[in-house]
Amino acid sequence: MLRLGVNIDHVATIRNARGGDHPDPLRAAHAAAAAGADGITAHLREDRRHITDRDIDRLMAEIDLPLNLEMAATEEMLAIALGHRPHAACIVPEKREERTTEGGLDAVGQFDTLAPFVARLGDAGIRVSLFIEPSEPQVEAALRLGAPVVEFHTGRYAQAEGEERAVELKRLSDAAALAAKNGIEPHAGHGLTFDNVAPVAAILQLAELNIGHFLVGEAIFTGFEASVGRMRALMDAAR
Ligand code: PXP
Repeated sequence: MLRLGVNIDHVATIRNARGGDHPDPLRAAHAAAAAGADGITAHLREDRRHITDRDIDRLMAEIDLPLNLEMAATEEMLAIALGHRPHAACIVPEKREERTTEGGLDAVGQFDTLAPFVARLGDAGIRVSLFIEPSEPQVEAALRLGAPVVEFHTGRYAQAEGEERAVELKRLSDAAALAAKNGIEPHAGHGLTFDNVAPVAAILQLAELNIGHFLVGEAIFTGFEASVGRMRALMDAAR
């Protein structure tokens, strides 16, 4: 079965636009669980623009689903992850000036920087994932780093059109096959929508998709449970 991790960052974005408590990301996590999500994903950014430290405290204390903490490879985030011990930690590249995570980690170029983070998170029993581009050198670097999981950045696939989209889809499926063959569990996410999820969900090696922005946007029109439930159904139908 293909797992659905629901990213609730942008529930916090809307809350933070006014301050206060509404809408509550924890309530969104409960709604996602009720609608068939298998996990909750949250990105604690250095600038705390959406998810806050308190959100992570509450999610860890109050949700039943596994939490996937997205984090930059910094000492501050490592200390937070080791303090909470979430089910999983996905290491992502992070730039203050970007609007969202614009590309994958360079696991080849950043190998020496990433190695102690992968080791220390893994030693604490946290399932480490590296958010990388779907390419052979990146998967090979993840393998040498000893990461049990990789998440492929699907942004290029989501933005591509026509023949280019087929090329991007093949990059994803080749990278997923390479990871799985080497014992790494492949995940994928970024920019996935009702319209583009099916071909990705059909890649049999993929074990999990992490989806956020579209689901929160769609929830404005249909409600969060309906939005997550429809994504779940589309993923299941593609398998
Ligand atoms: N996976 C990772 C590692 C991410 O950083 C994000 C958000 O940038 C997502 C998945 C979800 O992407 P989106 O919000 O576009 O669905």
